[in-house]
Amino acid sequence: MPLVPRSRLIVALDLMDGYEALSIAEKLGGIADAIKVNYPLILSAGLDIIKDLKKHGNVVADFKVADIPNTNSLICAQAFKAGADAIICHGFAGSDSVKACIDEASKYGCEAYVVTEMSHPGAVEFLQPHAFELVELARRAGASGIIAPATRPERLADIRRKAGKMKILAPGVGAQGGEARRAIDAGADFIIVGRGIYGADDPYEAALEFIEQLRR
Ligand code: C5P
Repeated sequence: MPLVPRSRLIVALDLMDGYEALSIAEKLGGIADAIKVNYPLILSAGLDIIKDLKKHGNVVADFKVADIPNTNSLICAQAFKAGADAIICHGFAGSDSVKACIDEASKYGCEAYVVTEMSHPGAVEFLQPHAFELVELARRAGASGIIAPATRPERLADIRRKAGKMKILAPGVGAQGGEARRAIDAGADFIIVGRGIYGADDPYEAALEFIEQLRR
């Protein structure tokens, strides 16, 4: 199912224990708009964890796919067959590689999101100078949205201006120093929070607190 901003919160479950991830997803009880899975969880718990997480809402497969078009299609097909609603791919591999992810997504009625500028400090070295080109590449290829940094709200605002109608998912809130409200004010449609929620004593309460910040 396509991502629809309701709570505007996406929870990244970067855990190494499938049972713990499922237990947190269950506690969250669907208050987030989606659960995001990445390699730490998939490599430790297996791809089938997506099917179990789906009982609690949409699942975004953050596989940062960045290969030749054929390999990208094969990777995306695995994610969608396992039940993912959306895939995240890199844009730097080129428009044909991105298009392969988007085409595979549409076969399954799913979405593809393209990374523009990442949220960590090292992203300024190579990705930042090309971020606007990556936004344009994603737009032309027909991506549902892009990933842009909550850690740099001024960059997020610039990217928003160039993104047109594409949805923006902004990671980096909480542990990486980004602020939820500022990311939304800068133009993000969703914030992505990992450690700030799964690392909290009470992940449900932590998620509620982020959602409250977004409502203010
Ligand atoms: O724990 P934390 O809130 O920093 O987790 C952020 C999540 O978002 C991680 O899964 C990370 O891989 C992902 N991500 C990111 N920056 C990007 C793209 C994805 O932090 N540009």
